[in-house]
Amino acid sequence: MSNTERTLSIIKPDAVERNLFEKITDILKKNNLKIEKNKKLQISKEEAAEFYKEHQSKPFYEKLCNYLSSGPIIVMELSGENAISRYREIMGATDPKKAGNNTIRNLYGVSIDKNSVHGSDSSSSAERELNFFFKN
Ligand code: CDP
Ligand code: MG
Repeated sequence: MSNTERTLSIIKPDAVERNLFEKITDILKKNNLKIEKNKKLQISKEEAAEFYKEHQSKPFYEKLCNYLSSGPIIVMELSGENAISRYREIMGATDPKKAGNNTIRNLYGVSIDKNSVHGSDSSSSAERELNFFFKN
């Protein structure tokens, strides 16, 4: 049975700065993840804090919000078969040092904070996060 899903991807400031958009989107396309929408923007620290509110009690929260708002990001709505879990696999583990071979974070991540990409972790997160960036 088919299970087409939509998920949110963010190319974080470190990867936008290094012009990795095409390299990353090539990987998505090769894996049959279709880019339905995309836009480049910079968010405020307050918006980053709202986006990452699930992490508000974590020691890295402040740094994370400063980082995500530090420069332009590219947000994308991806669609495809089991897109949420498949994109998480293609991204690799949060810490690039632990990310599997040829995952986006293994190839391009610099450190656990500058790990180049974000991906929704569940269908409820995907719905909330797509709404956050692509309302209307
Ligand atoms: O992005 P992912 O879902 O893999 O990880 P997360 O646990 O939801 O954490 C969100 C983001 O916080 C990560 O992508 C990292 O950039 C950052 N983080 C960090 O800077 N230091 C940590 N110890 C853990 C996460
Ligand atoms: Mg997460």
